[in-house]
Amino acid sequence: NILVREIYKDKEEFKDKEIKVSGWIRTSRSSKKFGFIELNDGTFFKGIQIVIGNELDNFKEVTKLSVSSAIIVKGKLVLTPDAKQPFEIQASEITIEGESPSDYPLQKKRHTFEYLRTIAHLRPRSNTFSAVFRVRSLASYAIHKFFQERDFVYTHTPIITSSDAEGAGEMFRVTTLDLENIEKNEEGKIDSTLDFFGKETSLTVSGQLAAETYAQAFRNVYTFGPTFRAEKSNTARHAAEFWMVEPEISFADLNDDMDLAEDMMKYIIKYIMEHAKEELDFFNKFIDKGLLERLTNVANSDFERITYTEAIDILEKSNEKFEYEVKWGIDLQTEHERYLTEKVFDKPVFVTDYPKDIKAFYMRLNDDDKTVAAMDLLVPGVGEIIGGSQREERLDKLEDRIKEFGLEKEDYWWYLDLRKYGTTKHAGFGLGFERIIMYLTGISNIRDVISFPRTTKSAEF
Ligand code: 4AD
Ligand code: MG
Repeated sequence: NILVREIYKDKEEFKDKEIKVSGWIRTSRSSKKFGFIELNDGTFFKGIQIVIGNELDNFKEVTKLSVSSAIIVKGKLVLTPDAKQPFEIQASEITIEGESPSDYPLQKKRHTFEYLRTIAHLRPRSNTFSAVFRVRSLASYAIHKFFQERDFVYTHTPIITSSDAEGAGEMFRVTTLDLENIEKNEEGKIDSTLDFFGKETSLTVSGQLAAETYAQAFRNVYTFGPTFRAEKSNTARHAAEFWMVEPEISFADLNDDMDLAEDMMKYIIKYIMEHAKEELDFFNKFIDKGLLERLTNVANSDFERITYTEAIDILEKSNEKFEYEVKWGIDLQTEHERYLTEKVFDKPVFVTDYPKDIKAFYMRLNDDDKTVAAMDLLVPGVGEIIGGSQREERLDKLEDRIKEFGLEKEDYWWYLDLRKYGTTKHAGFGLGFERIIMYLTGISNIRDVISFPRTTKSAEF
């Protein structure tokens, strides 16, 4: 069996040879004498044309097959330099492996993305989603390659956890208790010591704190895994289950952190431009007309770096009417982020040094006592794609911040230990993996870049 990808790679090798391919019918048309099938075998974005003559025993059955039927084809590969497709197979034998009846929900016509979400088990067979999920696979490989080439240690951090890494309380509780029927104490609370782990546990919102512990042993590490947030915000950019890439680097400050993030972004973009040419051409044609030009520019120019205070200043002086009022101290909203990156700079922008009250407890307090050494990377079309910071490495300051946030010091004892036993300057960030897939493809809804999206009121499949 030859894979269609191999034929596209080197058609001369297969020229005029008898070969066997197998795949699913994408389109089919026929006359009395001939049938033409576009077969996709899953290994390449494009399919291969199969020509069937009526001398074939099962000519009638084969030409009657509906879209998505699975077949095995034997025949000669013929180069067709004057035709639309570069080659075709003249079939000498076709075996029907699995028929697909005519009620197949993914017919050739253009379907809306909303409809395709309702058939998430079938949508990877469409052009758009086959392109999205191949880019997703290649991007995850590029991320591993980037970090491994730089000697980062890939660290697996737990999914079930007893600490809230962001301190934001957006955790999905994990329990084996029958919460409806369990006895509660006088305060109406459940005794979590009765639970499976003997304490309250949740799904992780970020692997960061655990990654920090490994960074203080291996120097440079990264995690890449699923994370979960019970955010009620029902937007095109938030999912309850999403993947995050989180490097953590020791003996490093916020500038080193931004340099790493910028290098990583450019590396991923270049890797996809080199390895997913057909897919990017498709997105550029049908999803987002400026995509290729934008990615080329981004891969080859410096990102902007401004402070939060400068960003607020720009927003206050602009003539744009924002829904959410701009003043020092607010958390930047998507409309502000998109204005900065799309209208003002037209490129990725790092915003640094946010007010301490709107950022997480672990971020390093700046000398002004008002801001922290945080950075967000904003990109056109998506908004925030990365959130990171230099970490507070000073024990006393970190304890103060934990208290200020109303968190319990005892819950973070192991995290505090890092500051006690050979603490170092260190930093890290989290890249929203779905957000970079949106950025690479021009797809505007997060539900269309993750195979089985989980969002509020939606967890089908
Ligand atoms: O900015 P966030 O919340 O940062 C952290 O979790 C840090 N602990 C990361 C670190 O420093 N190691 O999340 C990081 C990124 C965001 O910039 C965004 O791209 C993505 O994760 N993200 C989401 N993506 C999809 N759905 C959600 N609900 C997301 N929440 C965050
Ligand atoms: Mg953030």
